[in-house]
Parts: sequence; C-alpha cells; structure tokens
Amino acid sequence: MNERQNLFDVVDNIFVKQINMVELDNFVSVLAEKELQEGSMKLLKIQGLPILLIKQAGQIYAIDNRCPHMGCAFSGGTLDGTKIVCPCHDWRFDLKTGEYEKEPSMKLVSYEWKIESGKIWVKVDEEDE
Ligand code: FES
Repeated sequence: MNERQNLFDVVDNIFVKQINMVELDNFVSVLAEKELQEGSMKLLKIQGLPILLIKQAGQIYAIDNRCPHMGCAFSGGTLDGTKIVCPCHDWRFDLKTGEYEKEPSMKLVSYEWKIESGKIWVKVDEEDE
C-alpha cells in the first residue's frame, strides 16, 4: 500500500473537511459508505480534480463535475431518475452510460470506484491529475 499525505477536500453545501488520503493501486479512499445518502451528491476534490459522487436508485456513480458541453458544475444540477441535469443548459446525461440524451457520442467522464472496508474508493490515474 502506498500511503501518502495529501490535502483532500470534501466540499458540499454542508461541510468542508480535510483528511489524509490512503492510496491503493490509484484508488483513493474518499468517504465512509454510510456518508453518501440515497438521492444525494457530494462534491469532492481529489488531487485537484472535481469529482461528483452520486448515489441514486441504490447505485453509486463517480463523475467529473465539469459538464462536457461548456464546463458548468453538475453539482449545481439535479437528478432525475438515473439522469443528471446540468444547471446551465439543462442537458441531460445518463449516469449509467454517460451519454447525453440527444447526442450519445457526447459523454460525461466517469471514474471507477469500489467499496472496501466500509469506505468508498475512487480510482484516479496519474494522468488524470
Ligand atoms: S454547460 Fe452543461 S449543458 Fe451547457
């Protein structure tokens, strides 16, 4: 296990906190599983990347918070079933496929994640940083 100390911010409407990151094969421990409530979104900054963690219909998604259209922050948007609606121009992206509903070739960026030891881990590759 590669353990290193980094600044890690959890930013949402409620709190900002810093923790020490523990990294394992580029998976970064971000939250306790129970901290992500059904139907909620949490904005994280992992090594400078804005990553939005979402739990919807029992499924977890980790996406880049920047809309592929013009970069607006999805964290200010809404969830509609398994779609996320961008707050700027109301484009709707399917969280399962990442596709924009009117132009499937335009996709949001998703990150691999896993649950281990009661925590949610997100994979951030070196080249993503
Ligand atoms: S920036 Fe997201 S729909 Fe335009």
